[in-house]
Amino acid sequence: MASLSATYPKYISNFPARNADQLFDSCLFPRNQSLMKKGSLGDLRIVRSSNQTEPMIGGADSTDKQSDIPLLSCLQAIERLKQNRENNRGKQQFLAMYSSIFGGIVTDEAAMVIPMDDHMVHRGHGVFDTAAIINGHLYELDQHVDRIVRSATMARIVLPFDRETIRRVLIQTVSASKCMNGSLRYWISVGPGDFQLSPSGCHQPALYAIVIEDKSLFDSSGVKVVTSSIPIKPPQFATVKSVNYLPNVLSKMEAEEQGAFAAIWLDNDGFVAEGPNMNVAFVTKEKELLMPEFDKILSGCTAKRVLTLAEGLVREGKLRRIRVDNVSVDEGRSADEMMLIGSGILVRPVIQWDEQVIGDGKEGPISKTLLNFILEDMKSGPSSVRVPVPY
Ligand SMILES: Cc1ncc(COP(=O)(O)O)c(C=O)c1O
Repeated sequence: MASLSATYPKYISNFPARNADQLFDSCLFPRNQSLMKKGSLGDLRIVRSSNQTEPMIGGADSTDKQSDIPLLSCLQAIERLKQNRENNRGKQQFLAMYSSIFGGIVTDEAAMVIPMDDHMVHRGHGVFDTAAIINGHLYELDQHVDRIVRSATMARIVLPFDRETIRRVLIQTVSASKCMNGSLRYWISVGPGDFQLSPSGCHQPALYAIVIEDKSLFDSSGVKVVTSSIPIKPPQFATVKSVNYLPNVLSKMEAEEQGAFAAIWLDNDGFVAEGPNMNVAFVTKEKELLMPEFDKILSGCTAKRVLTLAEGLVREGKLRRIRVDNVSVDEGRSADEMMLIGSGILVRPVIQWDEQVIGDGKEGPISKTLLNFILEDMKSGPSSVRVPVPY
């Protein structure tokens, strides 16, 4: 029987293997090719009738629609996946993917796929997290791994491996990618099984991780934000980093439609909450760094690090104190500075919130200093926030 591990580089041969053999077998022995249309690998076309909005798949004679759809072997499907990747190259490069379903790492983008019957795909039963890769180090990896473990517990997902194995898999995936600057994203899901609502048929929790190259510099220019009209998630769900990001996506789209960078959520009591993938903070007129409490929003790793690094500014007398508290909209809008904080943006000054100009309408000095603190921390911070990747 063919074994996937035989084709794997040595450094991943001791990875936790799941059902790699079955996966490979199904690729090697495609069943029933008789329905394949001759030369049909590339001749799908989309047809649209005048009174229909959904595209249908059709061939030369669209009256016989069923037989126009080729039945592909596994290898042919992979060929098409490769072709599709070639045709739709985005700006980002995906350098490596780990999947516990494969029990290994792939570097071919076409193979970076997950099972359709994974409960995460069709029911949203999965959690995820990230970590930035800076100069060959993973920034705040342990803080993010702790959070995904917490999220998995809250989503009642049994961990596919223990914490240390998850951490090791993540580091080795970055190592295999050879990526020096970019980001690591990873998911823990209840895994494949069936298409029922209950996860009781899913017996194999899964871990997936992907390395994305990104050499762009962090932007420090001030942005505009608006107040989100999309309802905020209730605290039970807002505090979990689950894959249910529909409200976050709609909120981002709403912001973009208004020429803004992000839409800010208020909680059900009307206090400032967070953005769709970032926390918010303010510098009040009394020179306090003020941040909303984390009990109804995602506990941001970057925001927590900013709170620690900002203590230096209190010691220097540039800030009077640091306060994590309820923040009213009035207090927020009348602040000297407002900033967005998250691992994707680091610290981004806000210069306008709805119609209200924040401070003097320019990037605030504390926001700029905190951005520099984080950038410095990423490059030369302590080992508690910088995990070297052994390439
Ligand atoms: C809803 C939400 N809030 C806040 C954050 C910021 O968290 P972190 O700094 O850990 O990236 C994120 C980031 O993903 C998020 O999705």
